[in-house]
Amino acid sequence: MDGNGRWATRRHLPRVAGHKRGVDALRACVRDCAMRGVGVLTVFAFSSENWNRPGDEVSGLMELLAGALAREVPQLKADGVRLHFIGDRNGLSEKVRSGLEQGEAATAHNRGLILNVCFNYGGRWDIAQAAARLASQGHAITPQTLDRAMALAHVPDPDLVIRTGGEQRLSNFLLWQSAYSELVFSQALWPDFDAAALDSAIAEFAGRERRFGKTPDQLAAAPAGQKAA
Ligand code: FPP
Repeated sequence: MDGNGRWATRRHLPRVAGHKRGVDALRACVRDCAMRGVGVLTVFAFSSENWNRPGDEVSGLMELLAGALAREVPQLKADGVRLHFIGDRNGLSEKVRSGLEQGEAATAHNRGLILNVCFNYGGRWDIAQAAARLASQGHAITPQTLDRAMALAHVPDPDLVIRTGGEQRLSNFLLWQSAYSELVFSQALWPDFDAAALDSAIAEFAGRERRFGKTPDQLAAAPAGQKAA
């Protein structure tokens, strides 16, 4: 969800004002994804590296998360959305941590869109914590065991990764899980990423040929439905 800071700066507003609009954009995106039949939406809300930002921006983001949880969870619960928080909870305040836990508990029985909010998350952290846990339990470290130990083991790998804000890099997001994801880079700043921008990213995705290591000829010969195997 990149571009909140620039959105605010262009309007001579503090950066936190852009993050506030980012929450509005996220609310709309959750609704738009659910309406389009998307099963899982995973968003990058705060990276392991975001602690390096100015103190007032970091505390603003923490307060925003706590406030957004208090305000949004009842509606998410009513809409059937199931919340998961992905990231290192150790570095978070008690207030934020209990807000995350309450949000997860309140939506635990929902069966609609799965919303993974990556907070104090980094792709390298996830790979390292999964490997450390396997090693401490004496398990072999293989792609399959790592897959099951990762923080996103409850969902399939993403089909599509969208980065807003014009930059063309992953910045430590879903490093393991995006091995075969289609990447779409949108020029829209996150607060401006609306339903039309989402549709445009989905259309770009739909036009891609996903080969998963196979040749185009092998794909053409495979029976329908087995092309991604
Ligand atoms: C990156 O834009 C965005 C973030 C670091 C924060 C994203 C957070 C939200 C959208 C809202 C918080 C979410 C929850 C669930 C409370 P940037 O600040 O790097 O923008 P810039 O590249 O224009 O500076």
